[in-house]
Amino acid sequence: MQTVNLEKIESYNFRSTEAYNAIRTNIQFCGKDIKIICITSSIPGEGKTVVSFSLATSMAESGKKVLFIDADLRKSILISRLKADSAVLGLTHYLSGLNGLEDVLCQTNIENLDLIFTGPIPPNPSDLLDSEMFREMVASLKASYDYIIIDTPPLGAVIDSANVAKCCDGVVVVIQANAISYKFAQRIIKQLEKGSCKILGAILNKVELKNNKYYGKYYGNYYKTYTDK
Ligand SMILES: Nc1ncnc2c1ncn2[C@@H]1O[C@H](COP(=O)(O)OP(=O)(O)OP(=O)(O)O)[C@@H](O)[C@H]1O
Ligand SMILES: [Mg+2]
Repeated sequence: MQTVNLEKIESYNFRSTEAYNAIRTNIQFCGKDIKIICITSSIPGEGKTVVSFSLATSMAESGKKVLFIDADLRKSILISRLKADSAVLGLTHYLSGLNGLEDVLCQTNIENLDLIFTGPIPPNPSDLLDSEMFREMVASLKASYDYIIIDTPPLGAVIDSANVAKCCDGVVVVIQANAISYKFAQRIIKQLEKGSCKILGAILNKVELKNNKYYGKYYGNYYKTYTDK
């Protein structure tokens, strides 16, 4: 197993810590059999990577043993974003048969959090993720972790996340506030429903709380009171 030192993607503030705790709890309430979770969205930039990595970190900090898999094989940005301190082997090395699973697994400096990076961009990302090898890999890792969180590309652009979702226990859709139409979101949900994977729910991201009537009016001061302390 490789070892890697990471910096967290975003610095936490009170609001996001609370939000991730709530998401974590909601996922736990989905049932004991929900262990492998795919995170996707409709379009690029809605926040899948930030949300999925922060959720994985939050779960690890709560004492669960977590594996984060970066399955956005077309855009390997996580290594640079996390300021990983060493060049590492990744998922594509394993799925193309170049390396064993033990070689591509990374232990991180965040307690309870292991990680698999993407590796070099392959010519056939959708095929690699729709392979028996990927399904068997995820199934075999399930025994070693409490949760496996898989970050994927947007489903509105490529089919990869639907392939990943097929071997997951549940899928969570990240939706950026005011970015996509209701119809488009519905289309993505329908596409996911075609597979057998359970849709656990959606996370509304990048909500502007200041201009939001509900949160602004009722929770603005509540949060302020706590963050000021
Ligand atoms: N809640 C948030 N508030 C403010 N900025 C955010 C939030 N969530 C994500 N971002 C920012 O939005 C940008 C896109 O986020 P991220 O890379 O996680 O999206 P993504 O859905 O993974 O994108 P892609 O589809 O390209 O992989 C980043 O710059 C990130 O810092
Ligand atoms: Mg991403």
